[in-house]
Amino acid sequence: MSQAVKAAQAAQAQRLPINTILSGDCVAALRTLPDRSVDLIFADPPYNLQLQGELTRPDQSRVAGVDDAWDKFSSFAEYDRFSHAWLAECRRVLKPTGTLWVIGSYHNIFRVGATMQDLGFWILNDIVWRKSNPMPNFRGRRFTNAHETLIWASPEANATGYTFNYEALKTLNEGLQMRSDWLIPLCTGGERLKGEDGAKAHPTQKPEALLHRVILAASKPGDVVLDPFFGTGTTGAVAKRLGRHYIGIERDPGYIKAARERLRQVVPAASEDVEIKKMKREEVRIPFGQVVERGLLDPGTKLYDPAKRHAARVRADGSISVDGATGSIHQIGAHVQGLPACNGWTFWHFMVDGKLKPIDLLRQQIRAELESPPAEAVLAKSGKARRGDLSHHGR
Ligand SMILES: C[S@@+](CC[C@H](N)C(=O)[O-])C[C@H]1O[C@@H](n2cnc3c(N)ncnc32)[C@H](O)[C@@H]1O
Repeated sequence: MSQAVKAAQAAQAQRLPINTILSGDCVAALRTLPDRSVDLIFADPPYNLQLQGELTRPDQSRVAGVDDAWDKFSSFAEYDRFSHAWLAECRRVLKPTGTLWVIGSYHNIFRVGATMQDLGFWILNDIVWRKSNPMPNFRGRRFTNAHETLIWASPEANATGYTFNYEALKTLNEGLQMRSDWLIPLCTGGERLKGEDGAKAHPTQKPEALLHRVILAASKPGDVVLDPFFGTGTTGAVAKRLGRHYIGIERDPGYIKAARERLRQVVPAASEDVEIKKMKREEVRIPFGQVVERGLLDPGTKLYDPAKRHAARVRADGSISVDGATGSIHQIGAHVQGLPACNGWTFWHFMVDGKLKPIDLLRQQIRAELESPPAEAVLAKSGKARRGDLSHHGR
């Protein structure tokens, strides 16, 4: 992260009550926050479950559903008015490059989605969180309800510049593009917060794994992540661990107490461990000619494939030649293998101390220098550095 970005983030953060839980109604609390100031919002609002009667298991034990006052609304119209109020405030406080995530079930997510679209949010994806350990359907009259839906949206249509850490998510998924169906277990075991009586501290505590994926996908270290329905602070705990700032809003003092205690115990990861891997298209393009131009390989240097079956000669204009054929590192790599295409950066190798090294190492060296100019580069600007100051691999 550049110094300028860090300074801008610090100035922004000064205007915000970062790493704090605001106590009270979320609409009122959101109104105290500046316009366009927050990078990411994760909202887990009341689902308006409309539970009718007590639910029991076949052995007649009672199922602990969500029958708390905060989840009750007198009508769909009342629920929609409430959704409109908090979503409008979220849209105001989001930066134009920020995004909003809302999680819900079939009871509320369609209404919430419609309200979001009415307000001008632009839906980027909906994610199905498939629960690996859902609660069974005890009455056997419907399908087991085994998923919840997350809506991911930007505040405006055609938004550009929002954060999506595509490469990080791909890495998280062992090299495969992350899909929109996520298999994650419910929050159980040691992660589930318990009160002094041993009962669940919160009926709808979300799994940290879910928040890990959301925050990793849609924010950068140092960003401000807001949760207007903080509950026991799952969003804050994961944000803090991943080196982001959090702002929580919650109106129940008991949940706030549990969240504060939880957050106190979270140790943030080291900054180098949460740094975002750059997307390939964000990396500076380095033509092979720059390797020659900078003297990292001299004209006439021999390049080899990993099995040393082919040898090419580097030319002064950044092309290479083999047996009279001349072209780019990619064209000649493809030519000698009889293939339609080839990544010359990984195919061709140069010799250092009797060992073959891929020429991609030289590209990485140039990229690293461009991103954080070394002392030599600063000298070079003032005309004091020589071409030989860069590590050099001759013939
Ligand atoms: C679905 S739960 C969120 C649980 C949270 N994601 C967690 O992992 O602990 C919704 C929370 O919103 C709170 N809440 C409901 N209405 C609110 C309002 N108008 N303002 C602030 N908090 C509210 C409830 O007290 C409840 O803790």
